[in-house]
Parts: sequence; C-alpha cells; structure tokens
Amino acid sequence: MAKFSTILIHEGKQLDKANNAIFPTITTASSFIQQNVDINGEYSYSRIKNPTRYAYETLLADIEKGIYATATASGVAATLLVLNLLPKNSHIIAMRGVYGGTYRIFEKLIKETSGHKVDYIDLNNLQLVKEHLHNNTRLIWIESPTNPLLELVDIGKICQLAKENNILTCVDNTFATAWNQKPLVLGADIVMLSSSKYIGGHSDLIGGAVITNQSTIADKIDVLKTTIGAIASPFDAYLALRGLKTLDLRMTRQCANALAIAEFLNNHRNIKNIYYPGLPDNPQYSICQTQMKTGGAVVTININGNRENVKNIIDKLQYFVLAESLGGVESMVNHSATMSHSAMTEEERVKMGIYDTTLRLSVGIEDIDDLLNDLEQALNF
Ligand SMILES: Cc1ncc(COP(=O)(O)O)c(C=O)c1O
Repeated sequence: MAKFSTILIHEGKQLDKANNAIFPTITTASSFIQQNVDINGEYSYSRIKNPTRYAYETLLADIEKGIYATATASGVAATLLVLNLLPKNSHIIAMRGVYGGTYRIFEKLIKETSGHKVDYIDLNNLQLVKEHLHNNTRLIWIESPTNPLLELVDIGKICQLAKENNILTCVDNTFATAWNQKPLVLGADIVMLSSSKYIGGHSDLIGGAVITNQSTIADKIDVLKTTIGAIASPFDAYLALRGLKTLDLRMTRQCANALAIAEFLNNHRNIKNIYYPGLPDNPQYSICQTQMKTGGAVVTININGNRENVKNIIDKLQYFVLAESLGGVESMVNHSATMSHSAMTEEERVKMGIYDTTLRLSVGIEDIDDLLNDLEQALNF
C-alpha cells in the first residue's frame, strides 16, 4: 500500500488518455460529443462530470480513504450540499465553536428555509450529546480542530455514538486535512472541507469538497451536486490538484513551524492564553496524539493587552500578513472578532471564547528563525 506522499503524486484518476500528458490538462468544454443517441461516453456535460475535476476529485477521495469525492465551488457550498441530504425540520447537533460561516448557514439560512434546528455543544461530552438527542436528530456536525480556538473532538467516540443512534456524521476537515487525520477511517460518514486553505495551499483559489466512503451517500450527493450545480470550475480544479501534489511537503514544514512557534509563545509574558493541541500542556493533547499526526499549522493566541496592543502587533508584524484566510504558504494573522467571526454578535463570540484580543496565526513555510524573530519584535510591548 503506497504511503501518503506517494498517493498524492500517483493515485486518483489522473491519466490523460488522449495525450499521455504527465499532468491532467484543463478541459474547459461544457459538452462532450456523443457517438450516437444510444451510446453515452464517460463525459456528457461538465456540470455532471468533467475530466479535470474528476482527476482532482478521485485524488481527494484516495487521500481521505473514501470511495467518492465531489469538488464544489467553495467550502460553504460543500456544507450546503451535505445539509441538503436532510429532510425538512431536522435537528442537528454541532460542535460548539464551529466556523463562523457554518454558523451563519445554520442560523441565518437553513433555519428559515428548511426548518432545521441546531444545538451547539461540546461533542466530547457524550452524556450531554445523549441528552440532546431527539427523534428528528439526523446529523452530528463535527469540526476538529475548530476555527479559531482549535478545540478537538474525539471523532471515533462521537461517530460510534451517532452510529448506535442511526445519525449521520460529517467532519469539517479543513484545518487538519487528510495529512493530519482521516475522519472516514475514524468512523465518520462524510468529510467536507474548504480547499481554499491547505488543499490548494497557495491562497489562489476558492473551493470545497464532500467525500464519503459509502456508496448510498455517494449516490445521493452526486445527484444533489448535479441538481444544485455549485461545482468547482476546471480552472479551480486544476489549481487545487496542482496544490494538492505538495500537501505532504507543505504540511510537514508548516506544522513543524507551528509547533516551534507554539513552544515559543507558551508562557510568553504578553500572551494570556495559547490554543495549540500539539502542546503537551494543552488539555486535549491526548486526543491530538491519538487521532492527529501533529497539532496542525494554526496557533491561536489571546494576548495580555487591549485592542490598541492588538492593532500595534498586527502593524509591526512583517511576515505574518493580515488576511482573512489561512492555509497558504505565507504566514498570516487574522483578527477573528472583526474578520473570520464577524458574522457573530459580540455576545455570541465572547460566549465562545473569542475576544477582541484573540489572534489566529496561520503558519507558513518561511524560515522558522525569521518567523520567531518577527513574533518576538511584534509582541514586545
Ligand atoms: C473550518 C472552515 N470550514 C469551512 C470554511 C468555508 O470555506 P470557503 O471559504 O472555501 O467557502 C472555512 C473558511 O474559512 C473554514 O475555515
């Protein structure tokens, strides 16, 4: 069985049958000429299946140990695709602290349009989860690590409980990627992700994906994706596949850099809290050790100071650029309150533990000495 980095280079259905090109070409055609009315070729119309997208999708399925993947126009489109599996008026249990955009879909969209109701709880507290189960509970939405506080969910345990109660599980694997953890192997039914982050890896595309290891779910998702049509374009699929090839190299470097940064910031005089599951004194270190390869490439901090200090730190940082997203080769800093989590009210945010002084660092592939020096000078106040 090939190892992860070899799978990235050689698996998926990447062969270009026409020219034997070493990398799949970008096929922009909307339609494919059929031989006659009785014989359909492999491809008919690109919303249904497109060669560039298919090469990328099959590789995604292989790295997640799934049997099927569909590439969507964005991560939120992938989330909506999964939610369309549910009947009207379903009850969903979600990890507390889910990504702000997911929260917006749950609270501002599907509540109104589909009558779904979502409870946000700590999915590690199985007793609490059991107390929240209803007859119409259809889905457990797991995000691990969460954005931005990097809380982990013991995926195996919650999926086991869900299976016993006939409830679907979906894991948002955006932050970890299949490099760090494989939710389908741990027992989840579905993986969704934003490929705008580590999969693409170069901050140059918006995309998402839904992956499963079960044919009944795959068949339903495939019909839904054709019906809804929020698919990845051939250009984006090409970029994502190109980025995906180096996922192992990038994650190895980025996660090692992140651990060094977390160790440096741990106990720093101007840091009040540090959130990094790869630190031995993090309360979830043992979950991290059992289900993840590393603590990931994001380090979140809550500084000892005020909004003015935050502004100064961001201004002084040279290599951590102020940016909305994460997962690129360049290091980034995000002010969660005004950026990634601005969809929430201040009260909702603070209840979750996201303060005006919370900063999320997405660690890139730069030289670690430069990154540490940059943080040292910026945090010196
Ligand atoms: C954990 C997580 N899930 C989903 C999304 C949504 O992805 P996209 O921005 O590609 O729609 C994001 C985006 O930041 C995210 O961080």
